[in-house]
Amino acid sequence: MSNKVMIVSGGASGLGLAAAEKFAKNGYDIVLIDVNEEKGKLAEQKIKALGVDAIFCLCDISDKSQVQQAAKATKEAFGRADVLINNAGLEVRGSILQCTEDDWVKLYDINLKGMYYMSNAFVPMMLEQGGGAIVNTGSILGYRTVGERAAYSSSKGAIDTLTRSMAFDLAKDNIRVNCVVPGAIDTPLLRGSINDSPNPAETEKVLGSKSVFGRMGTSAEVANVMYFLASDEASFVTGAAYFVDGGWSIM
Ligand SMILES: NC(=O)c1ccc[n+]([C@@H]2O[C@H](COP(=O)([O-])OP(=O)(O)OC[C@H]3O[C@@H](n4cnc5c(N)ncnc54)[C@H](O)[C@@H]3O)[C@@H](O)[C@H]2O)c1
Repeated sequence: MSNKVMIVSGGASGLGLAAAEKFAKNGYDIVLIDVNEEKGKLAEQKIKALGVDAIFCLCDISDKSQVQQAAKATKEAFGRADVLINNAGLEVRGSILQCTEDDWVKLYDINLKGMYYMSNAFVPMMLEQGGGAIVNTGSILGYRTVGERAAYSSSKGAIDTLTRSMAFDLAKDNIRVNCVVPGAIDTPLLRGSINDSPNPAETEKVLGSKSVFGRMGTSAEVANVMYFLASDEASFVTGAAYFVDGGWSIM
């Protein structure tokens, strides 16, 4: 029997790459979708070295035709789609007065419309095979604010709502849909943000203090929960927002 297939957007880095590694170690073939060609090709090698098959699709998820092309490539390579991790996302800083219209539109095109394009393109394959599981990546900033993240926070809040709509609509098709809600996780994205801040050491300390454990999380800690939510162990879990935030939300 062929391996199950997991598709992940933003699979070249951070949480997406960690998710790809976790599923690959558990025998899934992997489709990595990303706009970063160099990192995407490296990620493909890394996943193949784990003994499963992998393809990298250079694809901007905010472009419908590129997403449809990636779904076609997946169908040709593996013929199925068991798990979809809708993870690629962009962060733009700024209040509604600071955020430009271009930034607002770009962020929403990737964080939300991209998730719609991806789901719209890959769910039909799940329907053909009688079911599947989807995990969307939200953010603690959809629930707690740190200020000056109007576009980002609102898009991540909407991902929670979209997750519940998808879960309700797709339940009859044996497709579960859940959302992970990461807190501060030490990925290249957050590391870049720390290094760009006026006082990186202080910023790192503040981010660590947003957890009851006094540290940032790791990508693997989020990937473990993504794996659980997509697995049969979570067969009665759908429409949930699963916090992987080191306790930020209880503080
Ligand atoms: N790191 C954190 O602390 C944190 C916290 C909460 C939520 N998140 C969310 O987790 C997700 C992953 O973030 P990360 O921290 O791993 O960042 P990252 O920068 O390490 O990885 C994101 C990947 O997405 C890719 N990407 C960006 N735009 C894309 C597009 N249009 N099409 C395809 N790929 C695209 C990037 O090239 C990159 O490889 C994002 O949705 C982010 O909002 C991260």
